[in-house]
Amino acid sequence: MGSASPPAKKSEKQQLTDNKPEKLKKGLGWIEWLKGWFNVIFEMLFQRISASHLENPMPLPPIDNLTCIVTGSTSGIGREIARQLAESGAHVVMAVRNPKAANELIQKWQTDWSGKGLPLNIEVMELDLLSLDSVAQFAEAWNARLGPLHVLINNAGIFSIGEPQKISKDGNEEHMQVNHLAPALLSVLLLPSLIKGSPSRIVNVNSVMHSIGFVDPEDLNVVSGKRKFTSLVGYSSSKLAQIMFSSIFQKRLPAESGINVVCVSPGIVHTNVARDLSRIVQAAYHLIPYFIFSPQEGSRSTLFAATDPQIPEYCEVLKADEWPTCAFISQDCRPTNPSEEAHNIGTSFRVWEKTLEMIGLPSDAVEKLIQGEEVTCRYGRQQQ
Ligand SMILES: NC(=O)c1ccc[n+]([C@@H]2O[C@H](COP(=O)([O-])OP(=O)(O)OC[C@H]3O[C@@H](n4cnc5c(N)ncnc54)[C@H](OP(=O)(O)O)[C@@H]3O)[C@@H](O)[C@H]2O)c1
Repeated sequence: MGSASPPAKKSEKQQLTDNKPEKLKKGLGWIEWLKGWFNVIFEMLFQRISASHLENPMPLPPIDNLTCIVTGSTSGIGREIARQLAESGAHVVMAVRNPKAANELIQKWQTDWSGKGLPLNIEVMELDLLSLDSVAQFAEAWNARLGPLHVLINNAGIFSIGEPQKISKDGNEEHMQVNHLAPALLSVLLLPSLIKGSPSRIVNVNSVMHSIGFVDPEDLNVVSGKRKFTSLVGYSSSKLAQIMFSSIFQKRLPAESGINVVCVSPGIVHTNVARDLSRIVQAAYHLIPYFIFSPQEGSRSTLFAATDPQIPEYCEVLKADEWPTCAFISQDCRPTNPSEEAHNIGTSFRVWEKTLEMIGLPSDAVEKLIQGEEVTCRYGRQQQ
């Protein structure tokens, strides 16, 4: 990171407690929406130029003492993240919904790695983000080990392009559940282990698409009929909700906890995320490799956020400055500002409260867990 100073300010300092009712927005204004699309197109066209200073693969600092959980590490960006962390000496836990695929990958990686150093320290645990019970049970099993967790990488995500709205068995729109609600539950429930691993980090693989997103905290699942659902609305809203929740989460974590929350944009990356695109669009996707990052290139901003020694200092500077958002690292590994809507602290606070309610946690869950107290969660077993 060039320096640990916050990005250029766009608004006055705003207190977390400054939660006065504002005029309720029904959606992004035209100018915000156009700016959002500009950001998406700019990232797609110029990401390679703006990231031209980065090596590929990106060299990592010494990390043999780190334990890292990577969700969704059987494919795309997550697969690269898990492999590179393990090859750099970290203890990696692949948190996946397809353990067989993960074990096959580990076997392949161990074979490719043999003779280059100690065997990779990597294991698999089952996690299905479409089930909040599965998330709570995962966290319970992990916390029961009583070991430290240094880095949680919430990478798993879906973008069911062109598909109709689908509701999970927990009653949530699937993009919102997989991309935001389930990672939020996982992050909060893993706090006891993150405290043991402190200084520790939660890294959320977000997207530039958040900048065309809009979140109505009273209708996170876009089911009220006020807005028409499309997969683009589902995906972009879930990514914006994640930034808003993370911003309040970061403020709720006392500096002494040594835990920081960071969101990153991986860039536009050639992965299985496009699996739902039509054949023709997929073919076009293959034809523009110059613009689109490989998964290895797309893993750099997350690996940077997970391992760079300056990240905690940067997060603390933002917190001390009462900055309305958490740290956001762009695909070129530079700190940047998320969208204007992400700076709406009043909405972020309501997204925080609503999210805790939807994931079955009390509003003081973070404070209690930080104090070492138990918290009752509606999902998984009763006591975490
Ligand atoms: N690719 C891009 O251009 C791009 C751009 C911006 C942000 N991102 C973000 O980057 C992250 C990684 O995506 P990717 O591009 O690498 O896509 P990907 O290749 O489709 O990988 C997504 C991973 O998430 C896992 N996953 C999906 N649903 C899950 C569930 N219910 N429970 C547990 N795991 C689940 C998948 O598991 P299976 O293999 O079992 O399906 C897979 O391992 C996502 O958060 C995505 O939104 C991607």
